[in-house]
Amino acid sequence: MTHADPAQAAAELVHNASGAFMQTQCLYTAAKLGVADALAAAGGAASAAELGEAVGAKPDQLERVLRFLVTMGIFDEPSRGIFANNAASELLRSNQPHSMKDMVLHLGFESYGGWSKLADAVRSSYPEDSFPLKDWTGGLDYWGWLNKHPEEATHFNRFMEANSAAMKPAILQGYDWSQHADATIADIGGSAGGMLGALLSEHRGMRGILFDRPPVIEEAHEVWAAAHPTIPIGDRIQLVGGDFFDSVPAADVYLLKHILHDWNDEDSVKILKTVRKAASPQSRILLCEVVLPEERLDNPAPLAVDLQMLVMCGSKERSAREWAALFQASGWELEAVVPLGVPTKHGIVVGRPV
Ligand SMILES: C[S@@+](CC[C@H](N)C(=O)[O-])C[C@H]1O[C@@H](n2cnc3c(N)ncnc32)[C@H](O)[C@@H]1O
Repeated sequence: MTHADPAQAAAELVHNASGAFMQTQCLYTAAKLGVADALAAAGGAASAAELGEAVGAKPDQLERVLRFLVTMGIFDEPSRGIFANNAASELLRSNQPHSMKDMVLHLGFESYGGWSKLADAVRSSYPEDSFPLKDWTGGLDYWGWLNKHPEEATHFNRFMEANSAAMKPAILQGYDWSQHADATIADIGGSAGGMLGALLSEHRGMRGILFDRPPVIEEAHEVWAAAHPTIPIGDRIQLVGGDFFDSVPAADVYLLKHILHDWNDEDSVKILKTVRKAASPQSRILLCEVVLPEERLDNPAPLAVDLQMLVMCGSKERSAREWAALFQASGWELEAVVPLGVPTKHGIVVGRPV
């Protein structure tokens, strides 16, 4: 609502922003309990008592959460105390093509935990050794924490796959992949292979190496086999588990999508050097990352991800100048920055060996 009175509008802005976490937590609670799945199983609508029974929650408390979500436009309440799925709550269902459930679970739990420590991080010197999430995880970095939390790891991996799916068209169309049509492309930190699968499906002469942490690669076997029955593992695609601080496989092209934004400058240089060691003089490295403009930004999307990186990993999003500096420190040089034309300011940052 817009107010004629600017003071009232300002108060409303601050009021809404300060309570936005209530929305996050109600959404997270509904996703965690599986309310949207329970409604679908019940034929579309159910009372709070029926839902409570189905999801193992107290009907009274559950109803209080759901009626708040209804005011947000998530779930319907066709008659008092009866709840139903709507277009928004359908997105909280599991195993649906456009499900956003894994993202909601990731943001509402561990991300929320890290963000609750943001003020401490901002007060301290740049939090590379002790960033907010580490306070919440008791000292573990995010990847170490995921190793101990397989359920959350699965949600995170699926969230990454959904992210890749959403960005695929811009990445496939915004960069000229045909110049690598006969190349072996290693997707370093490629999760379950959504991006590599799209590339190999479009370019039949391309070969792929999917490289990630061993537990991710273990899960990726099943995901790949289901998603790409025409590209059997061992044929044009190899799945390799490992640590990109130790070594990566030899390849013509290295794709690092949303990898270096997880790491501070020192660690990013270490990763780039590992890749440089495996690369040939003709190899190229392609970073698919936000390329922050130098000028002021009014669009919050890349800035929110930048803060998410501060909180979760003690890292950041970078400008073209900062990407070039990382290349320069690790045996690469900046060849090109290809903007993908998306609001998040993603681009392909191309490096060649020096
Ligand atoms: C932010 S996710 C990006 C996933 C995927 N590239 C994408 O864009 O959706 C970072 C990935 O890096 C992987 N990773 C983290 N540390 C790693 C390491 N030391 N060695 C190999 N992979 C690692 C994670 O398992 C995760 O899949």
